[in-house]
Amino acid sequence: MVPIKTKKELLKKLNNINKSNSLGLVPTMGALHLGHASLIKRAVAENDFVVVSIFVNPTQFNNQEDLLKYPKTLTEDIDLIKKIASDIIVFAPTVADIYNNTTESNTYAFNGLEKVMEGAFRPGHFNGVGTIVEALFRLIEPERAYFGEKDFQQLRIIQKLTEIQRLPVQIVGCPIVREPHGLAMSSRNERLDPKVRKKASFIYDTLLSAKQKFGMDNAFKIKEWVTQEFNENTDFELEYFEITDVATLTPIQQKIENTKYRAFIAVFADNIRLIDNIALN
Ligand code: PAJ
Repeated sequence: MVPIKTKKELLKKLNNINKSNSLGLVPTMGALHLGHASLIKRAVAENDFVVVSIFVNPTQFNNQEDLLKYPKTLTEDIDLIKKIASDIIVFAPTVADIYNNTTESNTYAFNGLEKVMEGAFRPGHFNGVGTIVEALFRLIEPERAYFGEKDFQQLRIIQKLTEIQRLPVQIVGCPIVREPHGLAMSSRNERLDPKVRKKASFIYDTLLSAKQKFGMDNAFKIKEWVTQEFNENTDFELEYFEITDVATLTPIQQKIENTKYRAFIAVFADNIRLIDNIALN
């Protein structure tokens, strides 16, 4: 399994596939783990052909250090992909090939979805994500594309992107895969000190408690409780905790009947930023 390095080579490969076959795309930034594997397996089960893209997209990083330290493990990534299916097409382009040397993002209005949480704390992040995902969709023209609920806000934004740009691709959301202790799997977990990594189950435990409390306490009290929990824990620094409506991602004011809510959290551990979320009802 040799990764395809250029758009030109990829198009040549895709042109050889009969148009009656379905094509699934799994966009990733590599350093693959079992969370990515679950998306790839689902794509393989639902499509005749699957492309996995591996590209550390510079335009979505608002923090240079995070970009520079982003793990790159192409050989191991290929091994993981090969074990899932031997005919998966791996697309691992260079920045120059994708961006033609102008690393500028498009500017999108995602109807407010981009203004809260990750959008508020990582300026420009979703313009960068939108730019690369739109470019991949236009290049590869998949029938389906797979995204994890781990990045739930990103998933909602990609759904909005396909709507506003009229891109004919079905977005498939996939559940969060967790480490045995409950920490959501992430390429950044590799950078955690093993002791802190184990203790990071605290993040998921807090979300589970918030879910339990959601029935009885109001959202404001839950937020206060979460803030207190993190104030008392010196291993982690809370960046935000929000409870939002899943459709608009606006923070809850008061509970409305027949509305689905989710809790979202961003935490720093040893300068490494971790995010997670949970369905509340
Ligand atoms: P990356 O962080 O590599 O994630 C690729 C896909 O895997 C995303 O859809 C993400 O939500 C999903 N994923 C990551 N960890 C997961 C887990 N523990 N359980 C389930 N799914 C998980 O997200 C990106 O890359 C980039 O922003 C990208 C969409 C590729 C654009 O550059």
